[in-house]
Amino acid sequence: MVRVRELTMRLPSGRAEITVLDGVSLDVGRGEFVAVSGPSGSGKSTLLGLVAGLDQPTSGSVAIGGRELGRLDEDALARLRRETVGYVFQSFHLIPTLTAAENVAVPLELAGRDDALGRAGALLDEVGLEGRAHHYPVQLSGGEQQRVAIARAVALAPPLLLADEPTGNLDSTTGAQIIELLLRLRRERGATLVMVTHDPALAAHADRVVMLHDGRVIGERRAANGG
Ligand SMILES: Nc1ncnc2c1ncn2[C@@H]1O[C@H](COP(=O)(O)OP(=O)(O)O)[C@@H](O)[C@H]1O
Ligand SMILES: [Mg+2]
Repeated sequence: MVRVRELTMRLPSGRAEITVLDGVSLDVGRGEFVAVSGPSGSGKSTLLGLVAGLDQPTSGSVAIGGRELGRLDEDALARLRRETVGYVFQSFHLIPTLTAAENVAVPLELAGRDDALGRAGALLDEVGLEGRAHHYPVQLSGGEQQRVAIARAVALAPPLLLADEPTGNLDSTTGAQIIELLLRLRRERGATLVMVTHDPALAAHADRVVMLHDGRVIGERRAANGG
């Protein structure tokens, strides 16, 4: 599903340059759940952003479903990002001036789906937010906002879900509920999941844990109770 080859990302830092990712290669099979762990600053978010096509690498390649992102034109890349990849951020990234239902409807409308708001309401029910459709993000708790963000991420049933520390801004009880939701949706939809996490308990749910340090893959292990 995901094929990353020799991915390098250098960014300017004053007069010098810092190497954020340094020759990262990674394969994620269809339906697999891979956790990415590593200390703060090790390049986890940068890697996930490159996999999502949100950014362009200095060198190396990313292919999703056999399609190399660097070879797609702008329109094709935008379509692939919208329909193939669902992205969940640590800080939710909801649009503050839109209600919960309107936020979830955004990708449906961009994809030209009929009855986007109606479908958005059904998705909100599915993530346990019955009765919250007309609330604005500021009127929702952190856990509720992340549920809205997850409903938005899965609205077009993308085969690939990317989540960057999705529980990083939540207390542990709420975080556990969010993980349960993500894992349930992934199971029901048979989606591939790549999740950045610091949490060893969470990583234990994964089929595989990839460890990053200073922009390099330094190790990989299969979780004891993975799957
Ligand atoms: N836009 C940027 N400009 C300069 N440095 C950046 C930028 N984005 C990330 N970095 C640096 O790259 C390194 C890796 O960042 P990041 O991928 O966010 O790590 P992680 O998610 O593992 O904490 C950090 O040292 C960070 O300061
Ligand atoms: Mg990060």
